[in-house]
Amino acid sequence: AVKRTPFIAGNWKMNLDHLQSIAFVQKLAWSLADAKHDFADAEVAVFPPFTDLRSVQTLVSADSLPIAYGAQDVSAHDSGAYTGEISGAFLAALDCRYVIIGHSERRTLHGESDADINAKVLAAHRHGLIPVLCVGETAEDLEAHGPSAVPVAQLRAALEGVDGSKGLVVAYEPVWAIGSGQAATPDQAEQVAAALRGVLTEVFDDEIAQATRVLYGGSVKAANIASFLREPNVDGALVGGASLDIAEFSSIARFK
Ligand code: G3P
Repeated sequence: AVKRTPFIAGNWKMNLDHLQSIAFVQKLAWSLADAKHDFADAEVAVFPPFTDLRSVQTLVSADSLPIAYGAQDVSAHDSGAYTGEISGAFLAALDCRYVIIGHSERRTLHGESDADINAKVLAAHRHGLIPVLCVGETAEDLEAHGPSAVPVAQLRAALEGVDGSKGLVVAYEPVWAIGSGQAATPDQAEQVAAALRGVLTEVFDDEIAQATRVLYGGSVKAANIASFLREPNVDGALVGGASLDIAEFSSIARFK
């Protein structure tokens, strides 16, 4: 079987300004170093607001910190008259490795459609960024269509015309579990993660599907992370609230 390095990603959402981001990443690095964290056991990434990325880049590169980072969104366009948008080229110039695309808060609060999200995945790939593509169903979807239908449809739509060799992380985040304190069960997460991996096999091929990490997100904390990582198709977590607490996030990264 292919070994997928577990991925622990912190989505800060609209929290921590640039000074706070520097202090946070520094302390996180110390905490992981103190604990002798082996990054082969789990890759660790943070997703700060756009305005923090330069500061995080400076810190990470000056000290060669083993922490990856990326943005929380990217424009579907490469340049031009798009007031307020941030291009993939800008993110690549700040050495971002990843970019979150299609978070449920973007889908709901900013009206992003499956087609918008597909265009953003293609834009990320044009600039060498690895999308952390979020999919997930609402409580109503779950009631009406069962657990996998909506995330599976969202993933298929997002991957239209996408070259699977350019890198991808998929994050399954049931909307009802985000910020609610009510995480999915490991069983529920595994069922959907397996279905999503099935889509990757269909759309790309088995090799890419086996190499792609599928994360779970929604009320992940230090106390429940290990139970998710024990599932064969869950390769890590996209963490919101708990990623803002250094001790908690550091212990999530050391889930064993
Ligand atoms: O992207 C991560 C997020 O939506 C999960 O948030 O606060 O439930 O961990 P939280």
